[in-house]
Formats: sequence, structure tokens, C-alpha cells
Amino acid sequence: MSIILSLETSCDESAVALVSNEKGKIDLLANEIASQIKEHSNWGGVVPEIASRRHLENLPFLIQEAFSKSKLKIKDIDAIAATVTPGLSGSLLVGSITARTLANLHQIPFLGIHHLEGHLASIYLSENHPKPPFLVLLVSGGHTELIKVDSHHKYHRLGRSHDDAAGEAFDKVARLLGLPYPGGPSIQEIARYGNPKKFLFPKGRVSKPGGGFYAYDFSFSGLKTAVFRQIEKLKSENKKLPIEDIAASFEYIVAEVLVERSLRCALDQGLNSIVLVGGVAANIRLRNLMLSQSSKHSINVALAPMEFCTDNAAMIGAAALLRLSSNNIQSSMELGVSARWPLEKSDLLYDQNPPF
Ligand code: KG4
Ligand code: ZN
Repeated sequence: MSIILSLETSCDESAVALVSNEKGKIDLLANEIASQIKEHSNWGGVVPEIASRRHLENLPFLIQEAFSKSKLKIKDIDAIAATVTPGLSGSLLVGSITARTLANLHQIPFLGIHHLEGHLASIYLSENHPKPPFLVLLVSGGHTELIKVDSHHKYHRLGRSHDDAAGEAFDKVARLLGLPYPGGPSIQEIARYGNPKKFLFPKGRVSKPGGGFYAYDFSFSGLKTAVFRQIEKLKSENKKLPIEDIAASFEYIVAEVLVERSLRCALDQGLNSIVLVGGVAANIRLRNLMLSQSSKHSINVALAPMEFCTDNAAMIGAAALLRLSSNNIQSSMELGVSARWPLEKSDLLYDQNPPF
């Protein structure tokens, strides 16, 4: 059995978890989150400088709380993990330096974790999770990707957004509608009272240079513009904005596009399991549509547990446990942080000559 202390500070959630694995099952011993969302929502989005300062203030308390709730001590810990990429550099640095300092001080191995590998690992925090190969739809504030997982840590990206990520589209459209940040939950809430078929918004496609479209890629910036134009048109006609209908129609089209392209990809690739992870995976309409449409094609769907869709440290701990159990590796103490790094190259985070 291994016990991991994990830290997540890539964006606007400061999070600390203690996880262990026994007989292949991941146990959550502590899971602490200090959300900064309220503070950032005053500015309509994440302010990087505020985010890193708050991580610095929050982390010591969260670590203390995790140890006191789990009744564990630092000497019980087998490895310390922290998100090192991708994310806001200043925020990543706070988690990474805290983890490396503790690891150095107590002579414990350190593991740098790729944030998207963390989101992928959130599926292992659910009771029923599939074994690779499977297709992952990863939808968050920064990413919209279709990733084929051949075996643990063997990733192949088959689709991606060419502009806004799905979560980013939710955040931007919420702003257009005067709804608070983060946009996903605000749109979901108000969309419950709207007609999803009221406005027919476009399903953005990405053209291939030689003609045709990329079957598994996404584009959400045109959709955002279409919503903007619709709002302007209604305003110019002096009509009361049907915010509920606009929100519902937008949410519906995003869910449809994500589900249609994921299914197309899974069927073409002969994969019979789809895994849904990331902040936008918390969206009820998307979850329900994925379940209902996939069952028509006899494709299994595994949904990340609701509480582990948005950023948290439990998923970072789960990813670290998988790294440790598949190969007893660790990262160099020289490993820094990077705002961007491809998931396919996450093995290099365990190289003794780190890539950043
Ligand atoms: O995974 P996450 O916490 O952070 C990133 O790694 O980006 O995702 C945050 C994103 C935000 O854009 C937020 O609006 C979106 O996830 N989100 C949702 C929902 N809850 C969060 N989008 C749609 N429906 C939701 N219920
Ligand atoms: Zn995330």
C-alpha cells in the first residue's frame, strides 16, 4: 500500500488530498479544497496574480487540515505529488515548490503530475471504471480533447478544439448573458427553465485544408459569436432577453456536438467505452445525453464522479498512485513547471533530466 499527499494549484482551486491504494482500490483519506471562485468572479474570470497569492496563503492550512482529518503524519507518506503542467505558471509554482520542499525535508519521493492526466485519473475514483483501451472526452475550462487511452499512460489525441475550450465557451456566453463566473454552473441552473430548441445555434466545424472537415475536432468561437449576434438582434428589436431559452439552446448544442463527435470517434476506432472527465463533465445535460446516445450504439459510458469533475487534488493523487504502481518512478527535484506541455509527453516528467 502507498499513501500519497497530493497538491493541486494549477488554476483557481487550492486543493490538497491524501489518497492510498489497497488491493487496486483507491481510498480517499482526506480531500480539502479552498475555492477562490468567489473572489475571481468579481473580475469576471481568473486573475493569475490573485490566484498564486491565494494558493500561497491557503496551502499550509489545507495540508494541516488534511493531516488532522486523516490522523496521518508526514512520516506515513510514501510520495508527494503536485500538478506541474499545464496551468498558470505562478500558481503551479506554489504547489510544486511546496511539494518539493516537503519532499526534500522529509526525504520522500516527489512526483510532478500532468493536470490532464489528473483529470483522466478522476475516473478511477469511481466504483465502476473501465480498463483501457477506451476513449476519453476531456472537457474543461482550458481543454476539449478526445484522447484514446491504449494502456495506462499511452495516450493518443484524436480530436481537439481549434479555438475556445468547451468550458471557456460556457464562461464567455455566461458573461454575454450577464450571469456570474464560472459560466458552466450558472448556465446550467438557468437553462433548466428554458427551451433548448428555441434558438438553433451552429455546430462549429473545422475545415481541412484540402476540403471537408476534421471529424473529431471542435470549434466553439463561432457558437459564441452566434449567441452574441442573437442577443444584439433581440436588443435592437427592444425585446426582453429570453436568457433561459438562450442558455438552454446554447447548452443543448454544446452537449450535442460533444456527444456526436465522441460517438463518431469511438465507433470509427472500434472502442466500446467512453470516459467523460473535466469540469464540463459536471454538466447534467451532457452526462444524460452521453448516456442515452451511447447506449443506442452499445457503447459503455463511465462518468467522472460529480465532485471530482472540477479541479481537485484527489485526482492528482489518483494519477500519482497509478504512476507509482505501474512503475516505481519519481520526478527529479529539478523538475520545474510549465504553462503548456503535451499529455502524450507526460512520461518525460519522470526523466532524471527533466524537460522543464
Ligand atoms: O476542470 P476545471 O475545474 O478547470 C480546468 O482545468 O479548466 O473546469 C472548469 C470549467 C469552467 O469553464 C466551468 O465553467 C466549467 O468547467 N463547468 C461547467 C460546469 N461546472 C463547471 N460547465 C458546464 N456545466 C457545468 N455544470
Ligand atoms: Zn482542470
